[in-house]
Amino acid sequence: MSHVSVLLAEAVSFLNVKPDGLYVDATLGGGGHTVKILESIPRSKVIALDRDEKILEITKENLKGFADRITFVKANFRDLDKVLAGLQVPPGSVDGIIFDLGVSSFQLDIASRGFSFRTEAPLDMRMGDDAKYDAAALVNELPQEELERLIRTFGEENFAGRIARVIVESRQVRRISTTLELAEAISKAVPSFYRHGKIHPATRTFQALRIAVNDELGALKEGLIKALNYLGQGGRMAVISFHSMEDRIVKDYFRGEKALQVITKKPVVPGAAETLENRRSRSAKLRVAEKL
Ligand SMILES: C[S@@+](CC[C@H](N)C(=O)[O-])C[C@H]1O[C@@H](n2cnc3c(N)ncnc32)[C@H](O)[C@@H]1O
Repeated sequence: MSHVSVLLAEAVSFLNVKPDGLYVDATLGGGGHTVKILESIPRSKVIALDRDEKILEITKENLKGFADRITFVKANFRDLDKVLAGLQVPPGSVDGIIFDLGVSSFQLDIASRGFSFRTEAPLDMRMGDDAKYDAAALVNELPQEELERLIRTFGEENFAGRIARVIVESRQVRRISTTLELAEAISKAVPSFYRHGKIHPATRTFQALRIAVNDELGALKEGLIKALNYLGQGGRMAVISFHSMEDRIVKDYFRGEKALQVITKKPVVPGAAETLENRRSRSAKLRVAEKL
């Protein structure tokens, strides 16, 4: 299992890492960005959050060598204010905060979590125990129109209507409880050219469900506000997003917030070499802003 960090050097160099600085990695994952910060600057410290207990455990073990410079916290970054208050970090005292959104390859590789349409597992998709429902609940209980809207908006899926209809037909026969049952229903719903297209036909629907189950957009909106409050003057916030709705939230927040100066007029995207090496990076966008 490994996770290849996206826009690693770019994101960390934009943070203006400074000696003795205090940084927050709001999405620890495999720890790539945290390690880059710690290696770039001697004596810097990182408070690292992940809402996923299992991932936090694995990465904590892998980063044992840095234990004296990292504080690991299992938390949703929407609660960043509570986390930092609990650690006696005053508002206005953090030098940089990084968000690298979405799921890590670790999570996709743990079949039992239900994030992947390639391996049989219960339809779960919860990143942490703070999620209120799992994907099976949405798939089996949402009215058809809501399911369609969810798949269209969060998945940017053109065949959302057909997919929602076939899901509802299938669940009337039998509850859809596993990843492969859902993937099969989706395959049946879409036209043949899409079924054999470049991406698996279930990709966008699975993404939509994951975003909804984990309220990823709601968490992002709250997390950005809290991050701003804890940044010190001249401190920077770097956000890597993988979805157009996430990117819009970040862009609008950075532009609309008087206390922030946008550093990246256009989003920074990975170069050709990175996208060739890591397919996941293709949709990545990095935006950075500085607190005035
Ligand atoms: C793309 S990975 C981060 C990868 C990491 N930057 C690296 O280089 O290895 C995103 C991680 O953020 C976590 N995550 C997603 N949303 C979160 C949230 N709202 N609060 C805390 N952690 C979150 C996920 O559990 C996942 O482990």
